[in-house]
Amino acid sequence: MEQAMKNFFLYLSNNKTLNAAAKKWGLRFGASRFVSGETISEAIQAVRQLNEQGLVCTLDHLGEFVFSVEEANESADYCIKTLEAIHQSGVDCNLSLKMTSLGLDISRDLCMNNMRRILDVAKKNGNIFVRIDMEDYAHNQVTMDILDELLQDYDNVGTVIQAYLYKAADDIEKLKDKKVNFRLVKGAYKESPEVAYPNKPDVDENYKKIIKQHLLNGGYAAVATHDDAIIDYVKKLVQEHNIPRTQFEFQMLYGIRTQSQIDLAKEGYKMRVYVPYGNDWYGYFMRRLAESPANVKFVLKGMFTK
Ligand code: FDA
Repeated sequence: MEQAMKNFFLYLSNNKTLNAAAKKWGLRFGASRFVSGETISEAIQAVRQLNEQGLVCTLDHLGEFVFSVEEANESADYCIKTLEAIHQSGVDCNLSLKMTSLGLDISRDLCMNNMRRILDVAKKNGNIFVRIDMEDYAHNQVTMDILDELLQDYDNVGTVIQAYLYKAADDIEKLKDKKVNFRLVKGAYKESPEVAYPNKPDVDENYKKIIKQHLLNGGYAAVATHDDAIIDYVKKLVQEHNIPRTQFEFQMLYGIRTQSQIDLAKEGYKMRVYVPYGNDWYGYFMRRLAESPANVKFVLKGMFTK
């Protein structure tokens, strides 16, 4: 039943008609629990409040299904405005983005050009770090290749390794000497068993394996999970191997396990909250519902108790 519900919400997340319609609705159906606002100033305000609680952040301007050069460039402009707003407001925050929203499906050159524009502005505004979110498997290798190319010119860029992919450990090993700042996650997309572990226990095992591999390689790890078992594993691992707290951080999504976020920060760990904003909230919201029956219950309760 849980799997059927997950597939249902993942299917909805890809519905282009609903996606387009939702842009005009404003944040609805409880989406504001997971999306900080529609404008940059609302997002900065949310970041400031999180900073006051001892949490650092990464801002993501939501955007999906970009099919024209104009839309891709506009999306890059939003990233640039976000970087400038981060710098001007003085909040403790970096940037996350998706390369499909910068035109990756239109042309690699267009996307690369937008990435360079963004990284140049990030550099100029206090060398803000920019994280390339990892999307589905179809975009995985091109993302790794683009990252490799960008690393020749920039030190403020990194990406994400998904533990459900068989290739995860190899990808980490290939870039071992470059000491890349990787966000390590379980993986959020529906993938074929030809490329990804179909069973959750195998994903969890591989997740622990790649966290250990990357940290022992000396790389910076952003461990992005809401899973207590993994968080406890990391706490023990770093203690056992004397890994300093400056070499890793935890990350969680805005609106999810908020008390745990505060608790980790109080324990002295760096805790970064992924804060999405913008009017293109629909796909992101559906993927959060796919992740957790508790989130669906929360939304249904909100819909029927107002
Ligand atoms: P898992 O799903 O096993 O859940 C463990 C426990 O955590 C659950 O039992 C529940 O208690 C709690 N929990 C998990 N998700 C919850 C939710 N949505 N609501 C409430 N409770 C929840 N993926 C990707 O493919 N590319 C990417 O770039 C990113 N980026 C990213 C950034 C950040 C900051 C985070 C936290 C996650 C991502 N992800 C991602 C998503 C990631 O791959 C994964 O799908 C989710 O984090 C869910 O997996 P968990 O590790 O949280 O554990």
